[in-house]
Amino acid sequence: MKILLLIISFSVAVNLFGQNKLSLKARTSNIKIEKEIYGHFSEHLGTCIYEGIYVGNDSEIPNINGYRKDVVEALKVLKVPVLRWPGGCFADTYHWKDGIGPKNERPSIVNVFWGGVTEDNSFGTHEFLNFCELIGTEPYLSINVGSGTVQEARDWVEYVTSSNQSPMTDLRKKNGREEPWEVKFWGIGNENWGCGGDMAPDYYTNIFRNFSSYIKGSNFQKVICGPSGNDVNWTETILTGLNKKMNLAQGLSLHYYTLPTGDWNKKGSSTNFGEDMWFATLRNTMYIEDYIQQHLAIMDKYDPEKKMKLIVDEWGTWYDKLPGTKDGFLQQQNTVRDAVVAGINLNIFNNYADRISMANLAQIVNVLQSVILTKGHQMIRTPTYYVFQLYNIHQDAFLIPTELETEKYEYNDESIPALTASASEKNDVINVTITNANPNKAISLKCDTGKVFKSINGKIVTGDEITDYNDFGKDEKIIIRDFKVGKTNSKEVDLEIPAHSVVLLQLKLE
Ligand code: AHR
Repeated sequence: MKILLLIISFSVAVNLFGQNKLSLKARTSNIKIEKEIYGHFSEHLGTCIYEGIYVGNDSEIPNINGYRKDVVEALKVLKVPVLRWPGGCFADTYHWKDGIGPKNERPSIVNVFWGGVTEDNSFGTHEFLNFCELIGTEPYLSINVGSGTVQEARDWVEYVTSSNQSPMTDLRKKNGREEPWEVKFWGIGNENWGCGGDMAPDYYTNIFRNFSSYIKGSNFQKVICGPSGNDVNWTETILTGLNKKMNLAQGLSLHYYTLPTGDWNKKGSSTNFGEDMWFATLRNTMYIEDYIQQHLAIMDKYDPEKKMKLIVDEWGTWYDKLPGTKDGFLQQQNTVRDAVVAGINLNIFNNYADRISMANLAQIVNVLQSVILTKGHQMIRTPTYYVFQLYNIHQDAFLIPTELETEKYEYNDESIPALTASASEKNDVINVTITNANPNKAISLKCDTGKVFKSINGKIVTGDEITDYNDFGKDEKIIIRDFKVGKTNSKEVDLEIPAHSVVLLQLKLE
């Protein structure tokens, strides 16, 4: 078994007695799990914005100022901390001035990356930022670097955030918004090594420096476009190119998508899969930890004070499109497999909370590993939704370092750790989240909590079959259910983590 030695948490093979054991360590430092690790991403892609979030005031679908009421309510429950927009690849084609002012005067454009559909710009800056206010989330705007100008970016910042009098703020007021919005997070380009302009890393870095020096505002967190997966050359080159001006970027982005096959031409089905694709998906998703470690090691060289954070602003599963759906709309279903993928990734992000300050699942509604799917009037919460709801308790909690001794989940001649875990503490409650990747067996786990607790309860997300999903017009099969803990004394708990499941334990200290 590959031993993953982590900074905060580490998992090793089971001990000599063949026992799986999770030990919660004393909190030595106050590492906060930033709530933004539970962030999401919304792009003008397929039916994410139109139909998914926004149906317009005249729609028969119940809405609040054009925003779907059912989606708004579900997202409020989810406590979405941050939402990235307008892309993705779309962002580097987006000219924000197309999306302001009277809707009937807004120009239409062709969405060249996603299905070649007509984008009428009826959802623009005001609609996005007002939506964020409505659901109580922080906006994260992605600036057009690939086909935009520094002036255009500078104008957007002023239009959105300035309270001074200027042509841009006058325009904003004319368009109905007196007060500026608070926007802290600014991405300067998206995937500029690919869809964001196909740039070489040193070329992009110069452009980034140019943009960044004009994107100014109080408390801004500016994000430099980082690598895809394990492209360490990109990271090394851009950080060298910053030439010690590390204050130009507060975050470096990382994108990593989990494809079962690893083949972009034949990724695999989202619903119709056997144990081979189950195993491959979970193995591939776990690679992200290695990629995080590789990039952090490079960041440490250039930023020994560790001021720059890693922002995993696109992650999740990517399967073949659902049969019968449009090319470029990236529509997929979401099964128990996605729930376990979500649990594994969120445990990993928590355990690196000293360096990862944000992560954004791709994408929030109707695209890739969504938390919500809509069809006409109907809406479902996916298994991934319920994992996010389960894990919400980690938002802004203090990380508890853990040591996990886990057996392997073996398939053919390969293996991965069967269990992953992370833990945090907030308001005298210890929260522990655990995933079991083994689809065939429940795993006994002894949890040494390290602290005396008064009471304990558990919750679980799983399904009868690994391919189970929530479908339109049917009762949801996968929801959060109660989970029964085993024998306990005041500092130890015996657990039986069911096959293919995600579990939350909450230990009350007072
Ligand atoms: O999330 C879909 C696409 O994946 C995004 O537009 C792009 O940034 C990435 O390649």
